[in-house]
Amino acid sequence: MTTALAEERRDARADGAAPPRRRHALDLDDFSRDEITGLLDSADAMRELLRRSIKKAPSLRGKVILTLFLEPSTRTRVSFEQAGKMLSADVINISGSGSSAEKGESLLNTALTLQAMRADLLVVRSPHSGAPYFLARNLDRMGVVNAGDGRHAHPTQALLDLMTMRRSLGDLAGKRVVIVGDALHSRVARSDVFGLRALGASVTLCGPPTLLPLDLLRGGGAGVPAAGIPGVSVEHDLDRAIADADAVIALRIQQERQEAGALPGMREYTRRWQVTEARYRKAKPGALLMHPGPMNEGIEIASSLAHAPGALIEEQVTNGVAVRMALLYQLLTGEREGGEA
Ligand code: NCD
Repeated sequence: MTTALAEERRDARADGAAPPRRRHALDLDDFSRDEITGLLDSADAMRELLRRSIKKAPSLRGKVILTLFLEPSTRTRVSFEQAGKMLSADVINISGSGSSAEKGESLLNTALTLQAMRADLLVVRSPHSGAPYFLARNLDRMGVVNAGDGRHAHPTQALLDLMTMRRSLGDLAGKRVVIVGDALHSRVARSDVFGLRALGASVTLCGPPTLLPLDLLRGGGAGVPAAGIPGVSVEHDLDRAIADADAVIALRIQQERQEAGALPGMREYTRRWQVTEARYRKAKPGALLMHPGPMNEGIEIASSLAHAPGALIEEQVTNGVAVRMALLYQLLTGEREGGEA
């Protein structure tokens, strides 16, 4: 989603000037390779804090972070809260139910109210694609982090996916990543594609033709050139797609976002697109197996694989805390590190 904010940063980079300090994190399409690797380096350092018995550093003392989740979430909401608290920020969680959103208050008025309380950063999840962009344009003092907007983007999930892959595979340039499943409705897949391309990996999207994001593949929208994204291909046959892959990311079928007729029957879906042990064996030896969660075990991923060696699904969750610490720290201080006690 191209925005004035993203364009301003891109223009500054093209002129060789330092881009203005980042206030918002809306999607990875306006993050440069250097910015992503800087954040991942910082997240690796932050991860050390997670191993300590006292998981606390004073880096964000006095900062106020609000999380506003208007869609269900376990790992994203809790990990933002944990990340903020480990860096000593005050974190206040708001959900749609129980807030004045239930009385019909608009999203913008809710956010302006929160900004008036002098919060520093708003982490927002919304069922509406573009909602965090709208807020970022209309809030002058509070930064905005997109924790998932409709089917559009989920930049911190992509950062944690990149971190997980980089920690196991090293430099991602030239690596081949297969993303299989309901990519059409997956904000994770879109953000993963931008992040993986920025780091030089190639991506194969695999799934039923009705569940692939044709706008992303054909291009001409959402900041994607008309020829599509170089380095991103489509393969409907999972056995072929998975051959020699360095990493496989299985996606959840987004039941809550399906249009009638797009989803083949579950039995057919499972037969053709489930990551099974036999299929996983066709990937490179030691290939990574990932899933953003929540998983439908036995549908997009075989139950026997979900917790098998090689599956990094819980590792992704741990890295999610570290990456969010790195991002919160950078957005709130303008610097990269800060895990040291
Ligand atoms: C994802 C999301 O909300 O987009 N979950 C997550 O944040 N880990 C993926 C999903 O819901 O399938």
